[in-house]
Amino acid sequence: MEGSHEDNGTIVGHIICNKAVVKKGNRVLPVLNFGPLNVLPEYQRRGVGWALIRAMIERAKRIDYGAILFFGRPEYYPRFGFKEADVYGIADAEGYNYLSFMAMELKEGYLKEVYGGKYFESDIYDDERNRETVRAFDREFTNG
Ligand SMILES: CC(C)(COP(=O)(O)OP(=O)(O)OC[C@H]1O[C@@H](n2cnc3c(N)ncnc32)[C@H](O)[C@@H]1OP(=O)(O)O)[C@@H](O)C(=O)NCCC(=O)NCCS
Repeated sequence: MEGSHEDNGTIVGHIICNKAVVKKGNRVLPVLNFGPLNVLPEYQRRGVGWALIRAMIERAKRIDYGAILFFGRPEYYPRFGFKEADVYGIADAEGYNYLSFMAMELKEGYLKEVYGGKYFESDIYDDERNRETVRAFDREFTNG
C-alpha cells in the first residue's frame, strides 16, 4: 500500500506501507508497518505529513488492519495517537524497546494476545538481500 500527496502534478509527499507481524509463541499476528514517510523540504510544516498519516490510518482501518507498528521520529508521531510499543508489551525482533519504536491499535485490544511478543518487519527492508535490486532500480534514473 502506498500513497502520495500532489501539488499541481508534483509529488510533494510520499508514504509506503508493508505487511509485518508480531509473534508470540505460535501466534503470528498480522499488523501494518509504514515507512518511509517523506515530504519535500520546501513543503514541510504545511500539514502534508499529517494528511498522509491520517489517510494511511483511515485506509488501514477500511481494509481491516488491527494495528500499526513502525520505527520513526518519537517527536512527530504521538500526535496521531501512536504510543511506545512497550505500552503494548511488544519488543523489536531483538527484544529491545526504545522511543522510536511505536504502535497504535486500530481495533481496541487487538494487540493484547501478543503482549510479550516480538515485532518482525517485512524482509523488503533487508538491505543485503535487496541491494542489487535497488541498484538496478537506481540505474534506471542515472544511466549508470
Ligand atoms: C517528518 C516529516 C514527514 C513531517 O512532515 P510535514 O508535512 O513537515 O509535517 P506536518 O506539516 O504534518 O507537521 C508539522 C510538524 O511536524 C514537525 N516537523 C516537520 N518538519 C520537521 C523538521 N524538518 N524538523 C523537525 N520537526 C519537523 C514539527 O513538529 C511540525 O510542527 P510545527 O511546525 O508546529 O513545529 C517531514 O518533515 C519529512 O519528510 N522529514 C524528512 C524525512 C523524515 O524525517 N521522515 C520521517 C522518518 S520517521
